[in-house]
Amino acid sequence: MNNTHLPKILAIDTSCDDTSVAILEGDKVLSSIVSSQNDIHREWGGVVPSLAKRAHQEYIQPCIQIALKRAKIKNIKQLQAIAVTYGPGLAPSLEVGIFQAKQLSLENNLPLIPVNHMAGHLMAARAVKELEFPLLALLVSGGHTELVYVSEAGDYKIVGETRDDAVGEAYDKVGRVMGLPYPAGRIIDELAHEGQDIYDFPRAMIKEDNLEFSFSGLKSAFINLYHNARQKGETISNVDLSASFQACVLDILMAKTKKALEKYPVKTLVVAGGVAANQGLQERLAAEITDVEVIIPPLRLCGDNAGMIALAAVS
Ligand code: KG4
Ligand code: ZN
Repeated sequence: MNNTHLPKILAIDTSCDDTSVAILEGDKVLSSIVSSQNDIHREWGGVVPSLAKRAHQEYIQPCIQIALKRAKIKNIKQLQAIAVTYGPGLAPSLEVGIFQAKQLSLENNLPLIPVNHMAGHLMAARAVKELEFPLLALLVSGGHTELVYVSEAGDYKIVGETRDDAVGEAYDKVGRVMGLPYPAGRIIDELAHEGQDIYDFPRAMIKEDNLEFSFSGLKSAFINLYHNARQKGETISNVDLSASFQACVLDILMAKTKKALEKYPVKTLVVAGGVAANQGLQERLAAEITDVEVIIPPLRLCGDNAGMIALAAVS
């Protein structure tokens, strides 16, 4: 096929605290720029919406210019469409990307493709291989924990989700208690590999015959254990706490995913979203889910990025 005829699209994601712009040609990500705001929000222990909005406003233009340059596109008119995340996410952050995308679309007479952020996380798996439907997806991020049945591209049915905190949010909150910088997920994952699973945290709803999750009880149990130990002057090690917390989270995620696979017998399981980067989760999936194909997007497409939005826009 002559590559010069493959459609090129520019995608924008400003759903939370990363300003991201990507260019896709056909199914190939030509460039993907992610300007992280972690340094800004770290000081506050979480994302501050007004600061996120201001940073998006400052960085969106430079990100667009760098993405175009890296993709060797001199004129926006060489593109065929603009894609943008419309939600879910932080409203003040989303507005910045949507405004930019609308402007680019109007000025250059290009169609605008609105994309759901979670569909983006899921479709990032297309970077590994073309997806076959129906499939089941476990979507785990800072804002969501969902099991999704996808009968065909674009037809998403949430079959189970968290009743309270998202799994990434639980990682970040217990990380804050342990004095770790935000976002704490990756660090806890690393510490967990050095520690022992010696604290017995509650595996909420694990035995219940549904596909629902709950992480707020785990978070409270963790905080109570930590503060009680501190009050008694006992030393409590972050590596063992991390190992025990992660073992609990993974037991819950694995149990509910296995239950979903029994209920929805599919050939493919996609695991996506920021928490899909978790090494412990990847190890357990490889060891325990052997009769369906497990597809996990590459690390660079697990966390928030506009490459996944572009991949979802053309699926
Ligand atoms: O998908 P994402 O980049 O942004 C949202 O849409 O929320 O996910 C960010 C979340 C954060 O909570 C972060 O702590 C978590 O993903 N995370 C991890 C790991 N890497 C990132 N959680 C556990 N283990 C990891 N290795
Ligand atoms: Zn996300």
